[in-house]
Amino acid sequence: MNDPRRTLTVSLAERSYPIHIGSGLLSEAGGLLAQATKGAVVIVSNATVAMHHLAPLRASLDAAGLRIEVILVPDGEAYKNFDVLSDVLTRLIEFKAERGTLLLALGGGVVGDLAGFAAAIYQRGMPYAQVPTTLLAQVDSSVGGKTAVNHPLAKNMIGAFWQPVSVIIDTDTLRTLPDREYRSGLAEVIKYGAIRDAGFFAWLEEHADGLVARDPAALAHAVDVSCRIKAAIVAADERESGERALLNFGHTFGHAIEAEAGYGAWLHGEAVAAGMVLAARLSAELRGETPVVAERIVSLLTRVGLPVAPPKMTLARWLELMGRDKKVERNAMRFVVLEGLGHARLRANVPESALRSLLA
Ligand SMILES: NC(=O)c1ccc[n+]([C@@H]2O[C@H](COP(=O)([O-])OP(=O)(O)OC[C@H]3O[C@@H](n4cnc5c(N)ncnc54)[C@H](O)[C@@H]3O)[C@@H](O)[C@H]2O)c1
Ligand SMILES: [Zn+2]
Repeated sequence: MNDPRRTLTVSLAERSYPIHIGSGLLSEAGGLLAQATKGAVVIVSNATVAMHHLAPLRASLDAAGLRIEVILVPDGEAYKNFDVLSDVLTRLIEFKAERGTLLLALGGGVVGDLAGFAAAIYQRGMPYAQVPTTLLAQVDSSVGGKTAVNHPLAKNMIGAFWQPVSVIIDTDTLRTLPDREYRSGLAEVIKYGAIRDAGFFAWLEEHADGLVARDPAALAHAVDVSCRIKAAIVAADERESGERALLNFGHTFGHAIEAEAGYGAWLHGEAVAAGMVLAARLSAELRGETPVVAERIVSLLTRVGLPVAPPKMTLARWLELMGRDKKVERNAMRFVVLEGLGHARLRANVPESALRSLLA
């Protein structure tokens, strides 16, 4: 667990790529990425992230003899849109970026999704690398190749599967992350334990305080295991035709909470935290069991400072909001449920009666 550096592989045949995890990796990006470009790198970031983390990255790429351009996009989910995408593409044309130029996303999930989508469509596809700087981006959005922008009518509706050539996770970048953002990312970490790995869940229970304190060794281990779990699921089901949907544990309820509160009022991880509690209780209800697993999830989430109860909503409102979720197929209510800690499965046709007693 104390090994400060590790490299995992996302196994996708000829599109396989490494995830480098460790402390101080921004300063090694030049060496790690030199093979991935014919000489030029375009960094996409925002002013908030650039202020903290651009300098060491740039120095390292510079030392590797690469030509560097920087595109700063405005900070915030509201800017993950067509206009900003178009601006990024314009700048790429102005820079005379070629297919051999490497696009590098330095930032959270917003920058990663936007830059990744730009890379997917610029000249029908250019290589890109992810350098995620939020916990959510490190354990979730940078791994798996989903890229997107938001449509005015729906979030993440327009995008592409486009795998990066490399992911570089410098855990030191999390030191500057606001506390609420950091805790929000822990929700996804806890999710991996809940759906896939009871041993990891128990490890999280044991190291909750260290994680909240951002202890570097605990953090590196948590990011490592989370990325391994996501990488394995993505490798088995790149296009989300089955198993990948298990990653949505807690998300159907969570998306409804985000929508009800207005996007941004609850951070994604906060909504997912309360959503996981509901999903775990639903799992127990459907199996006629006492909600022992749900209570363990409640207690761990509480310890890391995440919400465990949703805002007040009528059943009709829940159903309306969950029906709008794009993961709902053909009107049958599908939920990711737990068959014990560490074992998630997709459950179709969940009866409304089960939801009624849960959400009353
Ligand atoms: N592609 C996927 O598979 C996938 C998965 C999950 C989420 N997402 C997407 O990710 C996005 C959310 O990502 P997010 O939670 O990282 O939000 P974000 O990118 O908006 O980052 C949150 C805030 O933290 C700032 N920030 C980032 N790194 C920082 C650092 N090291 N220090 C200080 N401030 C820093 C950002 O500028 C921003 O203000 C959503 O758009 C969501 O749709 C994508
Ligand atoms: Zn999520």
